Amino acid sequence: MLRRNGTPLIRVSFLLAAILVCCLASAASLHAQTSKLTAEQRADALLKQMTVEEKIGQLNQAAGYVLGGAPPPEEQVRRGLAGSVLWVSEPAAINKLQKIAVEESRLHVPLLIGLDVIHGYHTIFPPPLAMSATWDPKLVERVQTIAAREARAAGINWSFAPMVDIARDARWGRMVEGAGEDPYLGAIMAKAQVLGFQGPELGTPEHVLACVKHFAAYGAADGGRDYDSSYVPDDLMWNVYFPPFKAAIDAGVGSLMSAYMDLNDVPATGNYWLLHDVLRDDWKFQGFVVSDAMAIGSLVTHGYARDREDAAYLAFHAGVNMDMASYSYLNELPKLVKAGRVTESEIDALVRPLLVAKYKLGLFENAYIDLSKIDSVMTDPASVTAAREAAQKSMVLLKNDGALLPLDKTGKKFGSIAVIGPVADSGPAQVGFWGGMITNGENVVTVIEGIKTKVGPSVRVQYAKGPSIRRQETSKFEGLPRIKLRDEKAQSAAESQSAFDEAVATAKRNDAIVLVLGEGVLMAGEAASNATLRLAGRQQELLEAVVAIGKPVVLVLINGRPLNISWAAEHVPAILEAWEPGNQGGNAVADILFGDANPGGKLTVTWPRSAGQEPLYYAHNLTFEPESAPGFKSRYQDMKTSPLYPFGYGLSYTSFALANLKLDTATAKVGDSVGVSVEVQNTGSVAGDEVVQVYVHQQSGSASRPVRQLKGFEKVTLAPGEKKTLHFALGKDELTYWSPSEKKWVLEPAVYDVWAGEDSTAKLHASFELTQ
Ligand code: BGC
Repeated sequence: MLRRNGTPLIRVSFLLAAILVCCLASAASLHAQTSKLTAEQRADALLKQMTVEEKIGQLNQAAGYVLGGAPPPEEQVRRGLAGSVLWVSEPAAINKLQKIAVEESRLHVPLLIGLDVIHGYHTIFPPPLAMSATWDPKLVERVQTIAAREARAAGINWSFAPMVDIARDARWGRMVEGAGEDPYLGAIMAKAQVLGFQGPELGTPEHVLACVKHFAAYGAADGGRDYDSSYVPDDLMWNVYFPPFKAAIDAGVGSLMSAYMDLNDVPATGNYWLLHDVLRDDWKFQGFVVSDAMAIGSLVTHGYARDREDAAYLAFHAGVNMDMASYSYLNELPKLVKAGRVTESEIDALVRPLLVAKYKLGLFENAYIDLSKIDSVMTDPASVTAAREAAQKSMVLLKNDGALLPLDKTGKKFGSIAVIGPVADSGPAQVGFWGGMITNGENVVTVIEGIKTKVGPSVRVQYAKGPSIRRQETSKFEGLPRIKLRDEKAQSAAESQSAFDEAVATAKRNDAIVLVLGEGVLMAGEAASNATLRLAGRQQELLEAVVAIGKPVVLVLINGRPLNISWAAEHVPAILEAWEPGNQGGNAVADILFGDANPGGKLTVTWPRSAGQEPLYYAHNLTFEPESAPGFKSRYQDMKTSPLYPFGYGLSYTSFALANLKLDTATAKVGDSVGVSVEVQNTGSVAGDEVVQVYVHQQSGSASRPVRQLKGFEKVTLAPGEKKTLHFALGKDELTYWSPSEKKWVLEPAVYDVWAGEDSTAKLHASFELTQ
């Protein structure tokens, strides 16, 4: 053996090989030395090695395809010019990008891979609006845990969810992405989702970084027109629009997305008050802020920033850490640094939390995924079970005259059933907008399939689609590489008529009819506002023609928001709101229609009679002439003011009775907690779920308070005859509000009304007084 300085050659070559391996597996070598330190210490150490360009690169989130004149994403990553990539959902492509980042970029910094995993990655669950209708935060947490696990297995380590925008206007297409109109429920659902995505803390294996969005009051867009300005007074910001964000932050959410629109004339993405004063100063948010897509560049479009350089400055100064795909930071920050308007230490402050998140997520230890393990995660039978259960529990039975539902599956009552409608066999309609970013609606059990499987040979099932439905204005997302769904092809008048006639003829040939109507591809979601809420295409005409046949009709709705079903509410005996029910939606619809599951979902948005009533929400203020005034009929002379269905409403195949609403005291000191109890009993003949809701109203104070506000709820499952006493507490958290006249949080001496019931029209009443 040759020796050099007494060292065996084999050892020398081993050493050289080791050095080589060290250099190649550079992420490991560079970053392992620091792995005993905290994520924050490691981030600081790494920052010291970075050039200004590399730091600015970390603030840039590249689109997963060539966009806006920027170099291809691979090149940006290789040159250390991107800290994150979005809109790539394919695992092998993600691994490739990480490999470039880890092995080819100078400092080997892995990527945050972001995607809108809003309600599932492979297994598509019902969207957040539907999930909120379960009133079951544990279930919400469970489905987002599965979504996180699947996403992480595919290489996505950052989900742009939860979306927690309060929405009080169904014309706004994005209502489907949030938990509805109520801040109390919204806060509970926000927390549940953050825990589902991130686990108990950021960095929990098989979880992802969550991103609460869109900060803030995006849902208050004028007229429900997506992207339009929001004008929201401070008290509504604090009392209504902020609470779900605050809850997400308290639950440890690691990132937050700024919104697109102007808030009180200042674009949210350049809004110092929102992003600095509220978020960092008041709430002490420690995570990082990403802009919405292209929102920094759009500060110019808004007429707020002079030019891109100014836009980058304003967003940077307000505290936006990462620029989503507008490349304003990448292109403009170097100029701002040169001009001395932005300092390197300010840049460090924005880069640091991004690196901390990457360390916490364990990306420096392993940025890759094992492609061979993906299938086992995606095919986990527990996910299928959860998807079916989630869909069942999210559905809301709106009407069931004469107990038409559940239908008999033995064929004794109805030997044949016609299933009619444009979304009765539509995977895309069932997965919705964000499901359509990842799938094109394949791997979905549609309603017709679910019904056929359920009844087997006992009942003859015939299907006719009727005229197809499509958007009136083409979606701006149609054809984009990142959206897989495509709208249906236009039908000629003759094609539409023959489909219509065939549908009516099919209905006539059968004993009962299940009509499946609602919204089709890309009709709900972003850039999908509606002026009328009417049923798209010829669905209303089809509905009326089918009802005119005179046979029993069940209407199933597949949609992302309340639609104008006022005619149906009068003429159709049974209506089931099934939302966009996801992969297992067809099975879940069949479970409910045929009584294998008892519907227990309750609306989390007020259902209007017509779009003209919007915005419509239960927690409005009392007025000069309140609804409770003697002889009050309506504020409109041509329609009732009351909704078609109230917030919190939903029927069951059983019935419940509430009684004995009791308070543990009639008077208490400001700051004390008042105990509330109420009994609930299943008075029907089958087991069922009930959501007991508690509402509160403060009778006087430094500001007018809403007529009632949800301040407690509990979902119970009761066997026939079973009775339970439920307990709630009304204390500081429930009774404090932000007063516009005091300009601060107050808890005031006053008389408070309390109601308990099955929806927001709850009748059981009690009251207590708080004194100084
Ligand atoms: C949406 C965001 C989304 C982002 C990335 C934007 O158009 O407003 O909600 O997270 O795109 O897909």
